[in-house]
Amino acid sequence: MNIILLGPPGAGKGTQSAGLVERHGMKQLSTGDMLRAAVKAGTPVGLQAKAVMDRGELVSDEIVSNLIDENLAAMPADQGAIFDGYPRTAAQAGDLDRILAKNGRSLDRVIELEVNVDALVERITGRFSCANCGALYHDTANPPAKEGVCDVCHSTEFKRRPDDNEETVRTRMEEYRAKTAPILPGYEERGIVSRVDGMAEIAEVASAIDAILA
Ligand code: AP5
Ligand code: MG
Repeated sequence: MNIILLGPPGAGKGTQSAGLVERHGMKQLSTGDMLRAAVKAGTPVGLQAKAVMDRGELVSDEIVSNLIDENLAAMPADQGAIFDGYPRTAAQAGDLDRILAKNGRSLDRVIELEVNVDALVERITGRFSCANCGALYHDTANPPAKEGVCDVCHSTEFKRRPDDNEETVRTRMEEYRAKTAPILPGYEERGIVSRVDGMAEIAEVASAIDAILA
């Protein structure tokens, strides 16, 4: 299975990807995570991407499509891929079709997480993650079971993303509306889009996604 999780910032793409990895052994290919790793490592890509990400704008199609190409090529042929935060433009959607074909794969499903835009700023400004394993949390909606201790790896160090402030979130939402939402009709024509209520509880969203993939 090769699937895209599509939705605006804070829709729950990363949260649901982590569940799919755990339940089905799929691999999460998040261009946001790859770019943050490049920024942290100070690679040429990271140096180019940092300022753009801090503004909440989109990094170039060439950079992100190359990241997907490299990461997909390194995967075992029988492992399913979850595209999280990619593609985000019409050009990236075309790149993805070519990259998949080159690897003998094709796109099975596009799952759109439908969310109420008004709730997203609250979701994003309340988000934090484990500094050690990256597990995602939210101050009120999804805190660790024991305060200050990661459920997954028991680390006590947490971090917040530099682009998770209200101003940048507004730019990210506008980028989604203007450049990413317009790629959906093309997938609809192919009959591969399913919609899920992304405002439901995390576990309910996960069940709805599993029902689509079953
Ligand atoms: P990226 O990292 O992809 O960020 P994003 O698309 O803005 O999405 P988020 O990661 O903010 O949201 P999410 O949907 O993963 O939500 P999450 O599960 O964390 O991109 C960052 C930047 O990198 C971009 O701005 C751009 O500059 C660059 N970039 C990346 N990919 C690119 C590309 N392809 N092309 C060009 N540039 C690119 O959930 C959010 C919070 O809500 C969490 O705290 C979570 O616990 C909570 N939550 C989740 N689900 C629920 C629920 N059902 N109920 C209540 N709370 C919930
Ligand atoms: Mg994410």
